[in-house]
Amino acid sequence: MTSLTLTAPGRLRGVIHVPGDKSISHRAVIFNAIATGEARVTNFLSGADCLSTIACVRALGVPVERTGDAVIVRGVGLRGLAEPADVLDCGNSGTTLRLLSGLLAGQPLFAVLTGDASLRSRPQRRIVAPLRALGAQLDGRDTGDRAPLAVRGATLRGGHYELPVASAQVKSALLLAALAGEGPLTLTGKIASRDHTERMLQAMGADLTVGPATLTLRPTSTLASLTLRVPGDPSSAAFWWVAAAIHPDAELVTPGVCLNPTRTGALDVLRAMGAKIDITNERLEGSEPVGDVTVRSSRLRGTTISGELIPRLIDEIPVLALAAACAEGETLVRDAQELKAKETDRIATVAAGLARLGVMVEPTADGMGIIGAPALTGAALESHGDHRLAMAWAVAALVARGETRISDPDSAAVSYPGFWETVAAVRAGS
Ligand code: S3P
Repeated sequence: MTSLTLTAPGRLRGVIHVPGDKSISHRAVIFNAIATGEARVTNFLSGADCLSTIACVRALGVPVERTGDAVIVRGVGLRGLAEPADVLDCGNSGTTLRLLSGLLAGQPLFAVLTGDASLRSRPQRRIVAPLRALGAQLDGRDTGDRAPLAVRGATLRGGHYELPVASAQVKSALLLAALAGEGPLTLTGKIASRDHTERMLQAMGADLTVGPATLTLRPTSTLASLTLRVPGDPSSAAFWWVAAAIHPDAELVTPGVCLNPTRTGALDVLRAMGAKIDITNERLEGSEPVGDVTVRSSRLRGTTISGELIPRLIDEIPVLALAAACAEGETLVRDAQELKAKETDRIATVAAGLARLGVMVEPTADGMGIIGAPALTGAALESHGDHRLAMAWAVAALVARGETRISDPDSAAVSYPGFWETVAAVRAGS
């Protein structure tokens, strides 16, 4: 479909089981691929990104079977991957490209990794430079900054690396590279980013010490396979949280969402803006905290989103920008220059969409300033093939006056298959 036109319903109601978490789904397949034994991963996200991971892992000789929402991975062990016969296509998925580049840099094989035009335009020096410092041989276009990346794997030395960007993909790539290395790897610097890799590797028996400012991984000979249920993705639930908060007559419930504190920045910001949020049934599922989140119509006020909050909500900024657009007063997003390195330059693309909705917005080098508007005006909005933009614009359409047309709505399936069906269901809940 090239575009979709929506109008705002009078009421929004629904209980929405968002799909499994994207970050955890990728890791469950990649880590179990190099473990010993069979693992069953349920509530696996069958979005295009995670399917790219499955295809790549199969091309590395790992049997992976899908039945319904479950994936069965038969691990080949830390030294059992096969050299792929062809280029590995990571599609739109930065997590696939970066985590696999790190893993393969420490394996005795040759591989080339690439992806779609968006992925090939994104910066890779952030993994290439530290992997080279560990002794890895890898290269790519633009002196190693852009995919395709070519990896000639080797046994890597350990050492110390200070992370200059808070990136879970970089952190994970380095830990995977070091797993089969010669000595311990210590990471310092900006290690505070989503920590699913640390939790899952520890649950699989890796020798990983996590301190407040340091991570140390000692090489291992085996990892134990890990059967798990993937919790709901808070980055997908955030679309419904914002929709409920900004719609005048709404109550939406998202049960079973991952509440890992490295992922809950959007809830903290929405609360600070005055959103009515209830969290119930908090529990631990495997190594991850989970709970049921209910959000109701709210009167929001502007806030500042900056500093340590940013890595805890980086993927939610497109939809939080809409909350800001519907709030009273000004919201400032700062320290978020990483937005430029996502599937699109999300400072530019979000600001352009908000402007079309009639919102006063000023993009800056590391974020944007947004002045809340009394009402959004329906408009033709570009998603540029970016899944999170397409879904953020759907949320805008649920409250805007008149018609909103969203280009390339199918891109939502990168992280949220069934998103548009759920939009129809919460509208019908009216
Ligand atoms: C992810 C980490 C984040 C996030 C991305 C998924 C991951 O990127 O934006 O959608 O699964 O590790 P960073 O590497 O910038 O933290």
